Amino acid sequence: MSSLQLVNAQLVNEGRIVAADVLIRDERIERIGAGAVPKGTATIDLRGLHLLPGLIDDQVHCREPGLTHKATLATESLAALCGGVTSFLDMPNTQPPTTDRAALADKRRIAAATCHVNYGFYLGATNTNLEEIKRVGPAEACGVKVFMGASTGNMLVDDPAALEGIFASARLPVATHCEYSPLIFENEKRYRERYGENVPIEAHPLIRSEEACYRSSSFAVGLAKRHGTRLHVLHLTTARELDLFERGPIEGKRITAEVCTHHLWFDESSYATLGTKIKCNPAIKTSADRAALRLGVVEDRIDVIATDHAPHTLAEKERSYFEAPSGLPLVQHSLLMLLDQHAQGLFTLPNIVQKAAHNPALLFGIAERGFIREGYYADLVAVDLAAKTRVDAKQVLYKCGWSPFEGTELRGRVVLTVLNGVPVFRDGQHIAGPRRAQALQFKAR
Ligand code: DOR
Repeated sequence: MSSLQLVNAQLVNEGRIVAADVLIRDERIERIGAGAVPKGTATIDLRGLHLLPGLIDDQVHCREPGLTHKATLATESLAALCGGVTSFLDMPNTQPPTTDRAALADKRRIAAATCHVNYGFYLGATNTNLEEIKRVGPAEACGVKVFMGASTGNMLVDDPAALEGIFASARLPVATHCEYSPLIFENEKRYRERYGENVPIEAHPLIRSEEACYRSSSFAVGLAKRHGTRLHVLHLTTARELDLFERGPIEGKRITAEVCTHHLWFDESSYATLGTKIKCNPAIKTSADRAALRLGVVEDRIDVIATDHAPHTLAEKERSYFEAPSGLPLVQHSLLMLLDQHAQGLFTLPNIVQKAAHNPALLFGIAERGFIREGYYADLVAVDLAAKTRVDAKQVLYKCGWSPFEGTELRGRVVLTVLNGVPVFRDGQHIAGPRRAQALQFKAR
């Protein structure tokens, strides 16, 4: 048995911030509060730093198998760990796409051998794999991902009968990418006629428009209401879509919404400096949309904050508008982005913890994680709110080797990450040793 105590921490958990010590035995939290400790217990004095549950990112693209020139589960999970993200749910638009249970098993095998954080995988829906969707259960996947809008990978589900079937019979939460592709294709055509191949990146939110988002997300919400589906609409980007979602705590909601850190951070003015680096789907939209998304988080209309971490190589991203792939790498800096936004007065620390740790655990039925509770796994992150982190290309751990934050100073620092009871990152360094990551367990729902 090994034991570790974290003393003089400010625990941010379940809506409160309280001063406490945490005793960890093997991989779990044994006690919150002071008391006797077993002989030989190691101690880390946090000197008043804030201690949060490790973040659970419900949307990452680690590109494995098949797209490993962009990223691997090993590289991206190490970046996540160093950023305070201790669990993630990985998306199915790989090569081959993860559209059957054999492909899921293959991903779990790769992760068991290489991943540095706790992991789960989505089964991808297609127009024709309803039988797999009906069969897949919580031992195999966290949810079913439905691209109701075309994006990276060829995974569009646009057959109305297929969508009815998926929404009626999925046993797992259905997570949707909502953009109405026919409208996007029309918009692309119009811009192509005007600009040829040299469409300016500023047109991206007009091509991947508010209307395209709303038409698709309102359709998804309507389907879910008719079928009683457990629906999670991923990466909202517009003020208009917010009305589709109810305010209030996640418990009891059948329809939930996610926002991503880049949509909370950037707005249309950012294209001028970052260009196609921040081309993503759905697009980053106006500052009014961003303000509404921030309010949606505070008002509990949005339930989850994630990244949609979507690495592509710089060479790929530097192509022209139509050729540059959509997506940007984020998972190493998502907690820091949120801490900086806390410093800006936008979000409270309990708010951040609720959206980025508690709620993903509740939504996906992740067993015994996402909270600082006695008996739960000790996935924890200590942060220093008084420090600053300058994002430097040399410290970027993604396989693609770049970050949209290079040169930016973010207020806050990740000081310590504990994964399954073991310190794995401390004072800027990954602590080498046996990998501690585990497959997430999802409760039957
Ligand atoms: O911008 C995006 N990139 N949006 C997606 O839906 C997919 C992602 C990717 O996999 O590159």
